[in-house]
Amino acid sequence: MSVEKLFANAPAKTILAPMAGYTDFAFRSICKDYGVGLTVTEMVSAKALVMGNTQTLDLLHRLDNDNNCFCQIFGHEPEVMAECVTYPALAKFEGIDINMGCPVKKIVKGGDGSALLENPTLASKCITAVKNAIGAKPLSVKFRLGVDDDKHAVDFAKMCADSGADFVTVHFRTRKQMYAGHADYTLLPQIATCGVPVFANGDVVSREQYLELLDKGAFGVAVGRGALGRPQIFAEIANNPYQINIPQTIRLHAQSLLLHLPEKIVANELKKHVCFYLKGKRSTKSTVVAVNLAKSTEQILQLVDAYFQEYPQFSEVTND
Ligand SMILES: Cc1cc2nc3c(=O)[nH]c(=O)nc-3n(C[C@H](O)[C@H](O)[C@H](O)COP(=O)(O)O)c2cc1C
Repeated sequence: MSVEKLFANAPAKTILAPMAGYTDFAFRSICKDYGVGLTVTEMVSAKALVMGNTQTLDLLHRLDNDNNCFCQIFGHEPEVMAECVTYPALAKFEGIDINMGCPVKKIVKGGDGSALLENPTLASKCITAVKNAIGAKPLSVKFRLGVDDDKHAVDFAKMCADSGADFVTVHFRTRKQMYAGHADYTLLPQIATCGVPVFANGDVVSREQYLELLDKGAFGVAVGRGALGRPQIFAEIANNPYQINIPQTIRLHAQSLLLHLPEKIVANELKKHVCFYLKGKRSTKSTVVAVNLAKSTEQILQLVDAYFQEYPQFSEVTND
């Protein structure tokens, strides 16, 4: 499927950037409600999948409305990566994304994620092997500008296109930067000539930035942290009207998680998201502390309701 077709029904060319521990089926579904064009699972290890690790399979749960979702894999062995994408658990996704940007030490040490930025020959083999295995299904690669600097970013993007990627998502930071400093979009116009559509990623939180990045040659944007606690960002970027009721959205998020996960796990997952939903609002400190100490999902929801009963002016957000 062409990238144009993939985004044909999307109100804007937006991706929910993969975030381990956050972009599970429940959060992806909420972002869909606000018009995100494509979502991506949390990253899963190709090797773990091939070895039949059931915990990894749990990360691949989908809801009925989870259309246009890519599964992100990491690895560095072309044969293993090509094998895992043919498994039913992955074949059910609309496309595959390969992680070549993760800066986490453990991942890099294993030769995965951003370690592949240092080995473009192996990275190319991984891309071609996965593309050959998935055939007509779209393949994307997500990578950073480089390890310490951006000297090889344009060549790396070209290599991805030449090796079989249908589009790339570039996090415009180096590995050295981790998540600090700002994304530097200086090279976007050059990277945009790599031969496949480029999604710009890093610090995008507004429609103005989206339009600026399109002007610089991006096909679309991927939004990560800007969507946490603010799934309506995708409606804002698309310039679509929206109305979000925060306590109701949190309840929906919890209910959705409870459909598939044990209550204890749901409570822990929900805590992280609730902190983002409350971020930037007035007098949240005691609620955040209590939420983090809460022992059950119901207790968290009661704390959330109590906060919004006290501050009803923050319940409803709209751009109408
Ligand atoms: C908590 C967290 C987890 C992340 N996990 C992944 C991941 O699994 N795969 C990936 O490619 N990037 C991952 N990222 C990076 C994001 O996809 C994105 O590239 C980065 O946050 C920059 O975009 P932003 O400024 O819009 O957040 C993660 C980022 C965060 C904050």
